[in-house]
Amino acid sequence: MMHPYMTPEHVSLRERVREFALEAIVPVARDLDERAQFPWDTVKALGEMGLLGIPVPRELGGMGLDELSYTLVVEELAKYDASHAITVSAHTNLGTSPIVMFGTEEQKRRFVPPLASGEVLGGFGLTEPGAGSDASATRTRAAKVEGGYLLNGSKIFITHSGVGEIFTVTAVTDPERGAHGITSFIVCKPTVAPDRAAEVGFGHRDDLPFTEGVRSGKKEDKMGWRASDTRELLIEDAFVPDAQRLGDEGRGFINFMRTLDSGRIGVAALSLGLAEGAFEVAVRYANEREQFGQRIWDFQQVQFRLADMATDIQAGKHLTYHAAWLKEKGRPFAKEAAMAKLFCSELAMRATLDAIRLLGGVGYTDEYPVERMMRDAKVCEIGEGTSEVQRLVIARHALMDVLGDSATTSLSRKDEAPSGIHTI
Ligand code: CAA
Repeated sequence: MMHPYMTPEHVSLRERVREFALEAIVPVARDLDERAQFPWDTVKALGEMGLLGIPVPRELGGMGLDELSYTLVVEELAKYDASHAITVSAHTNLGTSPIVMFGTEEQKRRFVPPLASGEVLGGFGLTEPGAGSDASATRTRAAKVEGGYLLNGSKIFITHSGVGEIFTVTAVTDPERGAHGITSFIVCKPTVAPDRAAEVGFGHRDDLPFTEGVRSGKKEDKMGWRASDTRELLIEDAFVPDAQRLGDEGRGFINFMRTLDSGRIGVAALSLGLAEGAFEVAVRYANEREQFGQRIWDFQQVQFRLADMATDIQAGKHLTYHAAWLKEKGRPFAKEAAMAKLFCSELAMRATLDAIRLLGGVGYTDEYPVERMMRDAKVCEIGEGTSEVQRLVIARHALMDVLGDSATTSLSRKDEAPSGIHTI
């Protein structure tokens, strides 16, 4: 059935992604998860389909599609494999969008086309060992030197730190100014798998300005999203020219916060896809499995559980598509993005656990994908801002919504800063 937010183009894009996922991703997803292997071949194919640059303008190598198109692709991929979905989402939103949003014309021309056209992967370096939820506690330093900055520090849990080549990172330029003393920079490092990149014909560009002193560190052995690449990003005496400072000095934290506002729509979509994937498996199983002489579907408590899942999923769709719609229309969307991310990530956890409960013993084995989905769902409550951080963001907006100008909250009302006020 057509959703009110969707055009026929949205529906056919989603169909293309579904066909690709069924044909190319489903057969390899379990093996990639078991071996924690990055899916070079299928990610290359996603790039060839244009799916590594969905919302990026055509003149910068992207597809020039709207926010809902991007949201639907991430959701659809996650129904079948969350690792592929986060690869698209982290690359597009965290890796590429900061340069599109805050870059100079020169930076956009140089760095965006290789990312958006799917030649190399990008990432975003904010999180540090001592700066997780407290993102402004960044310790990476950028000292001003002639012609640029000398960066020193380390980032953790960075998606694509190993396989990717183009990153934006935050570093402190003025320690006296707290969140306003953080600046962002574009850095490049070669992929850790040059042989694989050469074999596949994707993932490396010789002509990028590689930043000496930037390299990836330890690969994380994760519970979920195991086929996505997550590592440290180490920065040692790395000279970054002025031309690679992204935005003005002191704007790094705020610009990254804005990037995360959008990122939360992507994680909401991913979570939604996981919940839908688990729901579909559960419905099929309930319809086939017999116990006590009848389909388990015929037990009313099974129907009630599935009805609750379906209702939750529908609510999650409305929250997520609405946040995407607000963003597309240029309206404030940070509160709605946080709500969508909070609701859908917790929904993904509930739905995958419910699916396992419904499948019983086999749900706990690798015979069905729901145990992987449950492991993949857990990180949705953590990455791109924990559930607690989402609640903090929502509460601050709620205060402003109710008290207006008399509210005392650190959320800025100035320029492009998000606000819950005036949204529909
Ligand atoms: N847009 C614009 N400006 C913003 C903003 C936003 N969304 N959020 C904050 N700001 C501004 C504030 O207005 C404030 O400016 P003023 O001083 O001029 O008022 C400034 O930034 C500092 O803001 P806060 O005082 O609110 O900062 P805070 O220290 O209280 O932190 C926080 C707020 C919401 C907790 C923030 O630190 C946060 O979002 N933390 C979570 C970080 C996060 O999501 N990390 C995930 C990393 S990526 C990842 O995880 C990748 C992956 O999994 C794949």
